[in-house]
Amino acid sequence: MKGTAANLEANAGPAAAIASADDAISRQLVDAVIADFPDHAPGTRPVHTLGVGVQGHFVASDVARQFCVAEHFQGHQVPATVRFSNGSGSPVRRDGWSDVRGMATRFHLKDDAATDLIAMTLGSFFSPTVADFLAFCQAARQTPVTVPSAWQKLLGMLQLKPPSPDPPPGQLMSGAAGTLAYANAHRSAQMAVFDAGTIGAPVSYARASFHAVHTFMVLGADGLRRPVRFSWQPVAGVATTNPAAPPVDDYLNAELQQRLQQWPADMVLMMAIGERGDALADPTRPWPAKRQRIVMGTLTLVQVAQDQQAVCEKISFNPCRLLPGIELSDDPILRARRGAYETSRQMRGGTACPFNPEA
Ligand code: HEM
Repeated sequence: MKGTAANLEANAGPAAAIASADDAISRQLVDAVIADFPDHAPGTRPVHTLGVGVQGHFVASDVARQFCVAEHFQGHQVPATVRFSNGSGSPVRRDGWSDVRGMATRFHLKDDAATDLIAMTLGSFFSPTVADFLAFCQAARQTPVTVPSAWQKLLGMLQLKPPSPDPPPGQLMSGAAGTLAYANAHRSAQMAVFDAGTIGAPVSYARASFHAVHTFMVLGADGLRRPVRFSWQPVAGVATTNPAAPPVDDYLNAELQQRLQQWPADMVLMMAIGERGDALADPTRPWPAKRQRIVMGTLTLVQVAQDQQAVCEKISFNPCRLLPGIELSDDPILRARRGAYETSRQMRGGTACPFNPEA
C-alpha cells in the first residue's frame, strides 16, 4: 500500500485537518487583536502598527559561543535590522501615551538565512494559553474613558485601592477598564496588565529595555540544552518621560534619527538561564531576578533606514524564525505566534516569509 494514491490521501487527511485547524486559530487570533482597535487600517499590522526601521549590526560577546552554538553568537559582526514600534494597533501616532513598545530584530546570516528576536517593554505577557488570550482580547475591547473625580480618587485611597493614573489628554476610548476587570479575575494577567497601565512613554526607543518573555532552548558548545530568556538593555540607560508633562504625540522617530546622526546607540543582549522550578512554558511568569545572566553581545544601531517600506514595514518578523542552536520551548503562546504572524503578514500584503516561500 505504501506510496499508492489512496494511501497518500489517507495520510494527508489528518495532517491537512491539523493544518487547517491551526490556520483557523491563527485567523481567530489576528481577528481578536484587530477587534481591540476599531480604527485599525487594513494593510497595516493589527498591533505595533506604527514603527521605525533601523539598520545596524550585532557582535557576540566572547562568552556567548560557549552558551549557544547559533551562528550569530560566534563572534563575527552580523548585520541586523530592527523595527521599534508602539504597541497600539491604531494608525494614529500617540508617542506620548503610556503604551507597551516593541523591538523586533532580524539577524542577517550567511546564505540569506535569518533569525528573528521579538521583544517588548513588558517583562511578562497577559496570557498563558491561546484560549486565555482570546478571552483577554475579548475583555480588552475599547470603552469610553472615564476620569475619576477628586472625590472618587480620595475614596479609593481611603479604601487602599491602587491609584490608577489619569488617561493622557485626548484619550477618549481605551481597553484599560476591561483589562483591569479581567486581571482582577485572572491572576495570570495581573503582572502584565498592571505594568502596562503604569509603563509610561520612553524618552527614546534607545532608552528602554525590551524582553522576549518566552523561554527558548539553546544548545551550548558543551552539548547541553539550557532553557533561557532573552532581553535587551540600553547602554544609554532606561528613561521615561515625565507623566506630569507628556511630550507631543510624535517624537520617537525624529528623536532616534537625531540620536543616530550624532552617534550610534548600543543595546546589550542578556540571556537569563532558567533553573529547576522556573516556568518554561508560561510567558506570564517571569523568572526570579537572581538567575545567572550571560551578556550575549551588543547590537549597535547605526542609522534609521532610508527605505522604511522595504526595510521594515513590508517585512514580517516571526518569533519562531530560529536557526540551529536555538529551539522553541513548549510555550503554547510562542508556538501560536508562528501562524498568527504569518496570517497577519498575508492579510496586510507583507513580503514573503521563509515559512511559506511560495507566498
Ligand atoms: C498569542 C499571542 C500573540 C498574538 C496573537 C500576537 C499577534 C501579533 C500580530 C498579528 C502582530 C503583527 C504581525 C505582522 O503583521 O507582521 C504582532 C506584532 C508584534 N508583537 Fe505580537 N502577538 C502575541 C504575543 C506577543 C508577545 C508575547 C510579544 C512580546 C515579545 C509580542 C510582541 C510583538 C511585537 C514587538 C510586534 C511587532 C513586530 C514587528 O515590528 O513586525 N507579541 N503580534
